[in-house]
Amino acid sequence: MNNEDVMILAIETSCDETAAAVVKNGREVCSNIISSQIDLHTIYGGVVPEIASRKHIEKIDQVTREALKEAGVTLKDITAIAVTYGPGLVGALLVGVSFAKAVAFAAGLPLIGVHHIEGHISANYIENKDLEPPFICLVVSGGHSHLVVVKDYGEYEILGRTRDDAAGEAFDKVARSIGFGYPGGPKIDKAAKEGDPEAIRFPRAKVADSVYDFSFSGLKSAVLNYLNSCEMKGESINQADVAASFQKAVVDVLVEHSMHAVEEYGLKKFAIAGGVASNSSLRAALLKECKERGIEFYHPSPILCTDNAAMIGAAGYYEYCKGIRHGFDLNAHPNLRLGERA
Ligand code: KG4
Ligand code: ZN
Repeated sequence: MNNEDVMILAIETSCDETAAAVVKNGREVCSNIISSQIDLHTIYGGVVPEIASRKHIEKIDQVTREALKEAGVTLKDITAIAVTYGPGLVGALLVGVSFAKAVAFAAGLPLIGVHHIEGHISANYIENKDLEPPFICLVVSGGHSHLVVVKDYGEYEILGRTRDDAAGEAFDKVARSIGFGYPGGPKIDKAAKEGDPEAIRFPRAKVADSVYDFSFSGLKSAVLNYLNSCEMKGESINQADVAASFQKAVVDVLVEHSMHAVEEYGLKKFAIAGGVASNSSLRAALLKECKERGIEFYHPSPILCTDNAAMIGAAGYYEYCKGIRHGFDLNAHPNLRLGERA
């Protein structure tokens, strides 16, 4: 570490992971601590916002101390504090924002509010040191499905978004109806490896007035109808075939929209981000399609796809370089849009 290094202490509490990280110059992860609450929420079949907030309060101090310790630094070595301030669960966001404000005030450090989705996109910078905008990015998480042009650091043009369920939400809901439990994405991914993706023909939804928008609720209903009709006919269900066929329907749509954008915008770089970006079938399909078109394909490791604070540190660094600073009146913004600053 030298005097010119920008050391960001990043904090993320937008959903069900309490996370803190120390990131050097936007691309080097010095520590990345994630305390997951998944086991607590599993028994309810999804995230319970009140439980998430309470657990963040219990863990945030410990997780942050661990991040500093593992990085071998103290607050004296930190240049700025970055914190997710939206979108997400308001009570959960507030814990991180309040904690970050308190630490920034006590240590006399600048405070930077970071957009959660911008964090997911920026996860790509960490392991791909050569990646620079412009590029196309498909962001698919539990709460969001966006296809965007990353025009510059912190500057986005949203080409398409979901009209109803997010891709990860569809994975979680379908997994629950097949009997896999929460969170469903990784379980469908695993089961699908044993199944036949052509066994059941589920619909690939198109949105009439937009080639880039997504819609997954029809697909989710089609799977539910299929399961119900099998039950009524007394037919047994092949879980692996349902998982593989559903996953194929999601992947086909995501890949088609992504390649359409890549071709239309003529950009030679394509990245994926968000929890669903760790899906093995999606990664394999995108890799193949990008290769055929001579497009460079970027994807974070699975641990950087799902919620973490290192990605917030990467995004926070570029906001810091742009001179973005927040005051101690920074609030949580549960519905913050990508590209919008509050
Ligand atoms: O990005 P993330 O950690 O949280 C949000 O910001 O929403 O994404 C969580 C979502 C969940 O819906 C989870 O089921 C999904 O990502 N997910 C996956 C996989 N791993 C996580 N979906 C499909 N395949 C996976 N391997
Ligand atoms: Zn997320």
